[in-house]
Amino acid sequence: MAITPPSERIWWNEPVAKVELIWIAVAFVWGLVMFFMMIYWHGAGEQNLSNEAYRITPAAFSEKTNAMVEKYKVREEGGFPVVRPPPGSDVYMLGRLWQWWPILELEKDQSYRLHLSSLDWQHGFSLQPTNINLQIHPGYDMVVTLTPDQTGEFSVVCNEFCGIGHHLMIGKIFVVE
Ligand code: CUA
Repeated sequence: MAITPPSERIWWNEPVAKVELIWIAVAFVWGLVMFFMMIYWHGAGEQNLSNEAYRITPAAFSEKTNAMVEKYKVREEGGFPVVRPPPGSDVYMLGRLWQWWPILELEKDQSYRLHLSSLDWQHGFSLQPTNINLQIHPGYDMVVTLTPDQTGEFSVVCNEFCGIGHHLMIGKIFVVE
């Protein structure tokens, strides 16, 4: 039978095996190292994420995004508007079930203030193949100042589980000369 009591009734009084003690010590020390690395990386890390965020209602964010799309749409791709806003401007991308909308077309070596928010649930904004990864919540406008330094087609992947269409929730950013 699989479920039987331990042979020693007072099993918790057994001395801890040496390898287990070593393992606990290694894990504990490593945990401490990583804790202090967090503080170190904050100052010396190459990539610090945006700490700029504002309260905004989903309706207001949607309105701003629509206004940008209306003004700067250059073409369509697969039913998505492709938007080319002027360099230096505020650009918007909204997450909703289940898409990142619209497609942006940005110029290389130009800076943009990229606003990200969700209209419904928590979503993830993971820019591939770069290492930019943000958690996006409804009610908050996350602002990332972005200066693309290479041209190409970048994908946005949602990496916060958001329901049945989560795996289909992708977006796109083009960077052109
Ligand atoms: Cu949106 Cu997963």
